[in-house]
Amino acid sequence: MIQQSDFQPAVVVVGASRGIGLAIAEVASKELGAVVLVARSAEGLAVAAAKVRAAGGQPYTFELDLQTADAAALLEGYLSENSLFCDVLVNSAGYGLRGAAVALSHGDQLGMVDLNIRVLTDLTLRFLPGMVARRRGGVLNLSSIASFTPGPYMALYYASKGFVRSFSEALHYELRRSSVTVTCVAPGPVATEFLEKSGANRAALFKILPKLEPEYVAERAWQGFRSGRRLVVPGISAKLAALVAAVLPSAVMLRLIGRLQFRSGDPCPCGSGQTFKQCCGSRHAKVPSPS
Ligand SMILES: NC(=O)c1ccc[n+]([C@@H]2O[C@H](COP(=O)([O-])OP(=O)(O)OC[C@H]3O[C@@H](n4cnc5c(N)ncnc54)[C@H](OP(=O)(O)O)[C@@H]3O)[C@@H](O)[C@H]2O)c1
Repeated sequence: MIQQSDFQPAVVVVGASRGIGLAIAEVASKELGAVVLVARSAEGLAVAAAKVRAAGGQPYTFELDLQTADAAALLEGYLSENSLFCDVLVNSAGYGLRGAAVALSHGDQLGMVDLNIRVLTDLTLRFLPGMVARRRGGVLNLSSIASFTPGPYMALYYASKGFVRSFSEALHYELRRSSVTVTCVAPGPVATEFLEKSGANRAALFKILPKLEPEYVAERAWQGFRSGRRLVVPGISAKLAALVAAVLPSAVMLRLIGRLQFRSGDPCPCGSGQTFKQCCGSRHAKVPSPS
């Protein structure tokens, strides 16, 4: 029979098939231990495993859709079958959607809340008690500079990242006297598929802000986590953006972000099904004057 003491510690990265998760998995591999890579894409996971191996880590891949109801239990089962325990959890799976909340798909928006909030919470709560009992390890959660302000035309994405930062920072405080760390990473735009898939890269805001490389973000995030930091905001521009959001009143931030994230070619927020330009933004679309 396998004793719990025969189990090996693992860094578990969810959202490891590409982007920031993959870059963090590579950095973590330099510590030469087991790295469990979790995502849906088998090809992405195979590439990630090769990178982890090349960096000195021992890769394990688990093809899993985290949005299935019992995903966290399935992941726990996989670790157990491989005589591993979750020493460090990296929550990097997430997606964004740009557009007016009334014009975006209802299902896609709920799916985003599910992945960015429910799944991250489920995994954190599932693995954290074991870490506390073993007095080692921790959780590295991916938030965003979006967490510092409400964000019209990416309303639910900003709100979901606000949840991640609030939850993570509070956990960091609760665990301050333990040997377990919870670190929140809040990057600005990072050059990954996220920007194209979310539609964010078509908005002026994401054209203005410089894009960081995922490798840079991963190095900062891992260093911050290993030194027990509560919050890591990688790069000067993201730090400045966080500062601006902290000092400007909400009404100003709403206007600023609203203007910089909306495009006149987007579906009209009035729900007409036309673009804003053809509909409410048209010079001819006038509110009828009372006769
Ligand atoms: N890129 C940015 O500008 C930026 C800035 C700030 C914060 N962030 C945050 O950083 C995190 C990582 O973003 P990224 O830029 O690395 O995005 P990305 O390149 O799109 O990678 C997302 C990862 O999540 C995985 N994933 C998505 N849905 C999944 C599901 N249902 N089950 C399992 N895995 C799933 C994807 O793998 P599969 O598709 O193979 O499943 C992929 O590995 C996200 O939480 C994002 O909000 C990103």
